Order: sequence, then C-alpha cells, then structure tokens
Amino acid sequence: MALSHSMLAVEISQPGGPDVLQPVSVPVPVPGHGQIIIRVAYAGVNRPDALQRAGMYAPPASASPLPGLECSGTVVEVGPGVSRWQIGDQVCALLPGGGYAEYVATHESHALPIPRGLSLRDAACLPETCFTVWSNVVMRGGLQAGERFLVHGGTSGIGTTAIQIAQALGARVFATAGSDDKVQVCRDLGAEVALNYRNEDFVQVLRDAGGANLILDMVGGPYIERNLKALADDGRLVQIAFLQGPKVTLNWAELMTRRLTFTGSTLRPQSDLAKARIAREVEAHVWPMIERGAFRVVLDSEYSLADAPAAHWRIEAEGHVGKIVLKVET
Ligand SMILES: NC(=O)c1ccc[n+]([C@@H]2O[C@H](COP(=O)([O-])OP(=O)(O)OC[C@H]3O[C@@H](n4cnc5c(N)ncnc54)[C@H](OP(=O)(O)O)[C@@H]3O)[C@@H](O)[C@H]2O)c1
Repeated sequence: MALSHSMLAVEISQPGGPDVLQPVSVPVPVPGHGQIIIRVAYAGVNRPDALQRAGMYAPPASASPLPGLECSGTVVEVGPGVSRWQIGDQVCALLPGGGYAEYVATHESHALPIPRGLSLRDAACLPETCFTVWSNVVMRGGLQAGERFLVHGGTSGIGTTAIQIAQALGARVFATAGSDDKVQVCRDLGAEVALNYRNEDFVQVLRDAGGANLILDMVGGPYIERNLKALADDGRLVQIAFLQGPKVTLNWAELMTRRLTFTGSTLRPQSDLAKARIAREVEAHVWPMIERGAFRVVLDSEYSLADAPAAHWRIEAEGHVGKIVLKVET
C-alpha cells in the first residue's frame, strides 16, 4: 500500500513552554540507506524532549527537528540495504528525533522486536531509557553483581529503569527521590535503600554503607562534590545530565587519592554504529529481564498526540512517576 505524502506531526513552533508544541502537516519521511519507516502507534515522552522544546538541546544536524526519541509501531517501508525487518513487523525503536508524528524514519539496527507479552504502549517507553541506562551503567560504568549502586531521580523514566536493571544484575541498589511517596515507589521497584533527598543526606547514608561503587547522576551542580564524597575508593560517577547546572568549583585531589573515575555521555549524538552496539546489548540482556518479569514498564500517563503540550506540562511539574506516552495511531 502506497503511503500518503503528508502526515500529522507535532512541531516545536519556536523555543518556549509546552504550548509552543503545535500540530502541523509535514511530508512523510523517505527511508535512506539502512533505514526503516515506522507507522507510529505510541511515542515516548522524555525530559530531553522538554529541553529541546525550550531551546536548550539542539538536535544533531542530520536528525528530524521534530521532537520524539522513541516509539513503537509497524514497519511500513524499508530502505535499501535493510536486512532484518520486513513490512508489517512490529517494533519499538530509538529515534534520532521525529517520534511525535504518524511516521518516522530510523536506522534498522536501532529497532528491536516488541518483548514477548508487552503491549505496544509499554514497548514505546523502553528504548530511550533502556539504551541510556545500559550504556551508562553497564557499558561505561561497569556495574557488577554485589556492588553498591546509587541512582538519583529514582522515579524518573531513567531512574525506574536503572533501579530494575541494576537489581536484576545483582547489584545493591540505593535511590533518591523528592517525596516519601516516590521513595516508596523506588523500594517497590527493588531499591534496597531509598531516601527522600529533601530531609535525608545521601552522602551520609552511602558512607555508612561503605560508599557507592557506582553512581548514575542527572542532577549535577552541588551534587557533583557530594557524589564524589559518597563514592567508595575506586568508585565511578557517571553523569547523564546537569539539572542543577554543569559548573562548580571542586577540590579534585580526592579523584586522585581515592582513584575515582568521573565520566558521562549523551546518547543522541552518538554514531549509528555505536547505537547499534548498544541495541544489541539491550536486546541480549534487558529483553530477557522483561520477558521473565524482572523488569516492568512504570507508566505514569498517556496522552493523545494532539495533547503533547499537556504531556510536557506533566513532565515539567515533576509529579510524575515513570514514563509518559503519546498515543499516535487512532
Ligand atoms: N545522557 C543521556 O543520554 C540522557 C538520555 C535520556 C535522559 N537523560 C537525562 O536524564 C534525566 C532523566 O530523564 P527522564 O526523561 O527520565 O526525566 P524525568 O522522568 O522528567 O525525571 C527527572 C526527575 O529528576 C528528579 N530530580 C530533579 N531534581 C532532583 C534532585 N535534586 N535530586 C534527585 N532527583 C531530582 C525529579 O524527581 P524528584 O521529584 O524526585 O526530584 C524528576 O522527576 C534528565 O535530566 C534527562 O535530560 C540523559
């Protein structure tokens, strides 16, 4: 069946608040070499979408300017050189952008099968957080069974994913969150220790436990020095965002005397090849966790594509727990 030439999408009409997200009719993407076109069933909403909308996270030059870093749906067209997928296959996929639309293009190696037993809605919530957590916690951070692992923002999309993957790997999980209700969610997901950072000091809690071997942090700012203090000797700190700013003055001597490692990464600008490598590891290690029930999608709320502004108001209010998703196919 031939695709129509134009489709409904939601664009960032100008940098600003959630109301700058506007419906628009744009051309259906054409698949390049190695790319597939997915008819989007659901699109995940992530904090980086809100940063992009606000003008603080520019997409790579080669990416769609439309927001949306992950989706689920059906393959409707395959470009030259595609070998894994056929028209009609259901997939979920990491996207370079463009998920807030009826159709989206992505490299075939960034698409994964829907895990057995999972709905298309839940599968749309997986790629961005699973790729980010696996690549930073395991591939970069080297988390091992038995290690003490601390994740901040424990009820964020990233946090709920990190708690469950680390726990399934046999790590001892510590998490922080901003309310007692959120702390309980972290415990329910498998955190051995979860604490409300508004009235407890995570540095003291970790030091009393022997120090964190690995910390995954998105807060930055004053947390940078506190994270270094919370690490055990030889500990690793992996930075994936700086919600409280990237600039601080630090005494770096501890990095040397206690043999600490401070690293980090962003997923979106990495090469197709690097993302394909992460995809293979996620499919090999995280998909089985999902299929045996060791990892579940924590869904906060669902909105229609036209209601994308409401989804962004929700993520910015920070009352959400887990993932927010847009229903695209009606
Ligand atoms: N590097 C990468 O490749 C990459 C990829 C994806 C996402 N990210 C980043 O990862 C972060 C999480 O993304 P997401 O989509 O999962 O976001 P999200 O669901 O919106 O979660 C962000 C959470 O951060 C928590 N937070 C804010 N200040 C905090 C503090 N001082 N201490 C502890 N928690 C705090 C808030 O929860 P509380 O109410 O508990 O404070 C909020 O729910 C974002 O900053 C995003 O930009 C990075």
